[in-house]
Amino acid sequence: MNLDAYRTRVAVTGGAGFIGSNLLLYLVPLYSEYLFVNIDCLTYAANLANLSSIESRDNYRFEKVDVRNAAELTACFDKYRINAVIHLAAETHVDRSIDGPAEFIQTNIVGTFNLLERAVSVAKENPGFRFHHVSTDEVYGSLGETGTFSEQSPFGPNSPYAASKAAADHLVRSYHKTYGLNTVTTNCSNNFGSLQFPEKLIPLMIRNATERQPLPVFGDGLNVRDWLYVEDHCRAIDVVFHKGEAGRTYNVGGGNEVTNIDLVESICRIMDQMLDGDRHEELIRFVEDRPGHDRRYAIDSSRIRDELGWLPKYSFEAALRATVEWYLDNDTWLESCISGDYRKYYERMYADRLSGEK
Ligand code: NAD
Ligand code: DAU
Repeated sequence: MNLDAYRTRVAVTGGAGFIGSNLLLYLVPLYSEYLFVNIDCLTYAANLANLSSIESRDNYRFEKVDVRNAAELTACFDKYRINAVIHLAAETHVDRSIDGPAEFIQTNIVGTFNLLERAVSVAKENPGFRFHHVSTDEVYGSLGETGTFSEQSPFGPNSPYAASKAAADHLVRSYHKTYGLNTVTTNCSNNFGSLQFPEKLIPLMIRNATERQPLPVFGDGLNVRDWLYVEDHCRAIDVVFHKGEAGRTYNVGGGNEVTNIDLVESICRIMDQMLDGDRHEELIRFVEDRPGHDRRYAIDSSRIRDELGWLPKYSFEAALRATVEWYLDNDTWLESCISGDYRKYYERMYADRLSGEK
């Protein structure tokens, strides 16, 4: 391929996962003058079929590469003369990090380190080399009844997942301060939308409800998350990648604070309207709490709003309805996730949860 036809050649890591797929579906048609190389090792959470509508585009390529493997990364960066990175590849599920943290340390910390090393090396010949690190609000820990996380909030990660992301954030910061790498970091709240693996709250509840399986709500159900529709997150990444100030971090949130029980009840009501049959709320079960379960997240996103002009476009209610509809229309996609080894893991985890029913 003629690499010189593309002035920006972006490695998007984790592009076959939930946010990565949505991001590529958004960016690839929008920036035909950029080359997008999707770097993903295809864990259980990946699904290349998500990208079928862009896979034959000239400005898109997929490479099965593991960010834990520095040699594979070097070969791939050389092959495409990569001069920018949007880094999403990660192990992302908090419950799995409690069950087995080792992969989180390797992928989220060592993988980020490998990418930073590669970026610093390439940036010597490409001074503008941009490194956008996609991170989470979980690095800040948990809030009480009031207050929000700002970019000045101290880090206080409570799960192995959150700690591994916090470590990666610190590495990114240090590579800017020490080596002058042109970095930006976004710390985002809970995303929802199409293509999310059904171990996460919203698709898990939709799938279980369609099968009339129990809906396991952890603890008292009063933990609060600040939900953001994934398309709004993709627009935020676009804005920060292009306009964010080097070395700066940006919080991204939807301003939609909802308790888990209210959210699950809303999903049930939407499903009652869309499907015939018994009321879905009857399926709700309060089960043993997640260890170290963060009580409340809420994001102050005034920096990205005021400095870069980003605003979420979608209302929470309309986006939640569209999301439920998407999963009901794509039940084969949903089932394809729950197969093979993952099915065994999922069934064990699910049985454990329900055995702790209150
Ligand atoms: P996901 O679990 O759906 O997808 C992760 C992707 O990374 C998968 O395609 C997987 O194959 C790939 N991957 C994992 N390990 C890899 C490795 N060693 N080498 C190469 N590829 C690897 O995750 P997601 O929910 O789309 O999250 C993407 C990023 O956004 C993560 O960094 C996550 O921390 C961050 N984030 C997620 C949310 C959210 O609500 N989902 C919110 C804020 C930030
Ligand atoms: O805040 C951003 C983070 O959001 C991302 O960094 C993570 O990658 C992403 O997984 C998500 O983390 P959470 O732990 O908040 O998401 P999860 O969907 O696992 O859980 C959302 C809330 O719902 C949480 O309070 C736990 C609760 N829960 C979850 C599941 C799976 C339940 O009550 N029952 C469940 O079965």
